[in-house]
Amino acid sequence: MKKKLIELQVNGEDYSVAVKPNDTLLDALRDHLGLVGTKDGCSVGECGACTVLMNGRAVLSCLTLALDSVGIEITTIEGVSQGEALDPIQQAFVDHGAVQCGFCTPGMILTAKELLEVQKHPSADEIKHALSGNFCRCTGYTKIIEAIRAVASQNPPAPFTKGGH
Ligand code: FES
Ligand code: FES
Repeated sequence: MKKKLIELQVNGEDYSVAVKPNDTLLDALRDHLGLVGTKDGCSVGECGACTVLMNGRAVLSCLTLALDSVGIEITTIEGVSQGEALDPIQQAFVDHGAVQCGFCTPGMILTAKELLEVQKHPSADEIKHALSGNFCRCTGYTKIIEAIRAVASQNPPAPFTKGGH
């Protein structure tokens, strides 16, 4: 199959990548760019391990064509830390024992990043709902939810709105 050269913007860097028409974004990230933090759990949109952010929205990179990813700001787990400093969500996962084998962790963290961007103080149920497409076979989810709640608790309180309760 004939390859096409495309430009991908990943973690603030521009990359030229030669991809086949049926290459997924997951293929491009792992096999072409060596960004293997994004995991391939099922390849068919069932597990959430391949989650990345595209313009801040969590998407399944195994269901996204590389050709459709041009011109979109892509963030992988490699792009969330600030140098040596972990992202607060990464740190909370470590502090709360929310990482065991770690296979689900990149997808969990990127899903949580999107959630906390749009919902500063999610309830446990809202966190569960947001994570419903991300499977973890190790932790039982409780510690993951605790970690995300801990990060949310550091956010400033929601402003009082007139007519609110
Ligand atoms: S690898 Fe994409 S959802 Fe499982
Ligand atoms: S920590 Fe192993 S799958 Fe979640």
